[in-house]
Amino acid sequence: MAQRLAVVTGASSGIGAASAEALGALGWRVVLVARRQQRLEEVAERVARFGGDPVVEPLDAGDAEAVLAMAQRVRSSYGTPGVLINSAGAGAWRWLEDTPPGDMERMLDAPFRAAYHHTYAFLADLLAAGSGVIVHVGSPASLLAWPSSVAYACSRWALRGLHESLSQDLVGTGVHSCHVLFGEVSSEYFVANPDSHEHIPWIAAPISRSTPAECAEVIVRTIHRPRREVFHPPLLRVYAEVNRWLPGTSRWLSRATGRRR
Ligand SMILES: NC(=O)c1ccc[n+]([C@@H]2O[C@H](COP(=O)([O-])OP(=O)(O)OC[C@H]3O[C@@H](n4cnc5c(N)ncnc54)[C@H](OP(=O)(O)O)[C@@H]3O)[C@@H](O)[C@H]2O)c1
Repeated sequence: MAQRLAVVTGASSGIGAASAEALGALGWRVVLVARRQQRLEEVAERVARFGGDPVVEPLDAGDAEAVLAMAQRVRSSYGTPGVLINSAGAGAWRWLEDTPPGDMERMLDAPFRAAYHHTYAFLADLLAAGSGVIVHVGSPASLLAWPSSVAYACSRWALRGLHESLSQDLVGTGVHSCHVLFGEVSSEYFVANPDSHEHIPWIAAPISRSTPAECAEVIVRTIHRPRREVFHPPLLRVYAEVNRWLPGTSRWLSRATGRRR
């Protein structure tokens, strides 16, 4: 790995914040990216307790120019990151007719555009170094068609598309793209995105809820042993396999146990 420098998006909360803390505890310098500066500074304080020297970069990851300017600052001050964790994400579960185009655009901003912008900003550096790991934090909504989640799902399917096509391009380069899919996580996501949790189909109920710290452990393991696709909890993989081999049954179960009009 080129350097022990990691850029973490969505670092003001949840999975991103926990990943930044986990990497900080392992001696990585972390660049913390999200919109809320105060929250980033609180995370930075926790990371600094491990003796790290975190960097706070408040920005809207949907703004490509802001991301490119941040990447230039990071590059010139600290060098090439060895790891990029794309964990910025938002978006409520709604019917399409309740999701005006402006809301859809904001949902595409994170995770999809955020991940695209950050990957674009650092990929040439990683390729030149001949090593690096890009972790995309994804959702099973990128595999299964669940009712009343159209714009939310679009952003996750686009993120998976980014990962899948990028993975093909990265073969033999020493740079890895990893899609890490989590079941429900006890982060602030459902507070920040009301109108979501109650719409998850109850077919998902047997999948246990993870903490952000558990997710961070999975991400750190993935950084040390990169894999194309990681499911946590592992039961999630069973759902993915049912969906792959019995897509009609999977769609029916999701409709039968999901939100109804
Ligand atoms: N929670 C779950 O149950 C769950 C399950 C599977 C997958 N996921 C996925 O994991 C990702 C992270 O979720 P989480 O649970 O960690 O949620 P979270 O606690 O709400 O954290 C989301 C993070 O994304 C940042 N963010 C959102 N929009 C942004 C933007 N436009 N620019 C920059 N930063 C932005 C937020 O920071 P600011 O508001 O400060 O910008 C925050 O730091 C999401 O994509 C989510 O879909 C979550």
